[in-house]
Formats: sequence, structure tokens, C-alpha cells
Amino acid sequence: MHRLLALLLSCLAIGQIGAASVSSPFDPFEHEGRIVGGEETTIAAHPYQVSLQNKRGSHFCGGSLVSKNIVVTAAHCLQSYKVSNIRVRLGSTLYNEGGILVEVEALAYHEGYSTSTLEYDVGILKLAQDVEETDDIRYIKLAEVTPANGTPAVVTGWGTKCYFWCMSLPKTLQEVIVYILDWRTCGSEDYKYGPIVYDTMVCAYEKGKDACQGDSGGPLVADDELVGIVSWGYGCASSLMPGVYADVATLREWILNTIKSLE
Ligand code: ARG
Repeated sequence: MHRLLALLLSCLAIGQIGAASVSSPFDPFEHEGRIVGGEETTIAAHPYQVSLQNKRGSHFCGGSLVSKNIVVTAAHCLQSYKVSNIRVRLGSTLYNEGGILVEVEALAYHEGYSTSTLEYDVGILKLAQDVEETDDIRYIKLAEVTPANGTPAVVTGWGTKCYFWCMSLPKTLQEVIVYILDWRTCGSEDYKYGPIVYDTMVCAYEKGKDACQGDSGGPLVADDELVGIVSWGYGCASSLMPGVYADVATLREWILNTIKSLE
């Protein structure tokens, strides 16, 4: 029950941001700003980052460009969308203008994806047109190995800058540095989640810093490789509640096979 509540509240679609909450209203990081606790960045620094939006231009999730026509994102971002309703903005620091806006030809998400446990929270989009690499648009490599505990990683997105009363999204891309925790450590007694962290997940933590609502599907990057996909968390930047990501190294085979099947 606890688990279900956490997932529901931490992964509400962007339309419902701020509608509910589970952590204390006196969260000290509430007003700290950016992704949560991060700072403004540019697309040139993270040229693999894309924004998934609906036809009306509302950003609902992030994603990562991995080849000329494939975006990797979270399964929970795609669940309730038809391809015809999704647009992908690439090559812009601002989610609402600039760069290029591309339509989607096909989508797929993992057969093992579970809405209750969020295991296998990975999906891909095939773009309706090929995009060339530029200074602001680049393909990122999929990690083959999950980085060791303590490896610094950067998470980026246009998600909310706090968990409470953050109704609007920042227009400028935000970044924050967090540190890798493998799923066992993340589910250990050193943190607060316990056995709800599974082997298809990897965590990243730093006090007062985290991804948040609207960052889902977006990239967690270490050593220029895509290591994680923003998936869930209990609140955002809550003490001893790391950000949880789909583990790209573990899900890599599925990603590669699914890309092939969509060709
Ligand atoms: N599920 C959220 C989304 O759909 C992302 C939550 C990430 N939360 C966190 N504390 N790292 O945008």
C-alpha cells in the first residue's frame, strides 16, 4: 500500500503536478529551485536530451537520443499516449521553442513493465524523420556496465524545481549532479526504500538534489554514457530517498533488440 501510494504520488503526470504529496510540507528543499537543487544549463552541454510533448506543446517527459531516429525514455511516459499525439523537441535549451520538433512513427515499451513495481521502466520512440548530429543534437551511447557506487552522474530535465506547490515547469533545461547507488545498496537499510528497489533499477543520490516530476524518461549520464532513465522517487530530494532510474546496462539488450524490431 505504502509502495503504491509512493508511486502514485511521485509519478503523477505533469498535468497533476502539485496535486498531492507525501513528504512534509516543511521540506527544507522546497524552494531551493531547479530540477531540485540544480542549476540552469544548455542543450549544447547535454545535446542528447529531448523533450516529449503533446500536440498542444505541453512537455510531459524527457528522453535521450541514441541514434538518428531513436529516443530512449521511460515506459511510464508512453503508457497513455498514441504515437500521433507525441512530438519530440531536440536541440533546444528551452522546451517550448527552438531546435526542431519531430513527429513519432512508432513506440514500444518493455513487456515486463509493471505499473505497480515500476520494474522494466523503459521504452523507445522511433522518430518519423532522421536527425543529423549538430552542436546541439547528439546521439548518446548506452552504458554496458552499471557504474560503481559513488560514481558522479548528471541528471537533466525540464521537470519541477520542487515537490510542493511547484505548478509550472522551468523553460530552461536544468542539471544536477548526483552519485550512483546500485539497486542493492539503494534497497538496503542505509536508505529508506527497502525491498521495493529491483534489479532493473539503479539509484542516484545527493542530499537536497534530485530529479522530480517532469524529468521522467530523461537521462542520467556518467562518463558520456546513458546509465539511467528517470523513473521514480518518494517525493523529490527527500532525505535518504534516492532518485530511482531504470538501469540502462541491464536493459540494454531489450533496447537494442527493440530498435532492430522497429527498423
Ligand atoms: N515519475 C516522475 C515523472 O513522471 C519522475 C520522478 C522522479 N523522482 C525523483 N524523486 N527522482 O516525471
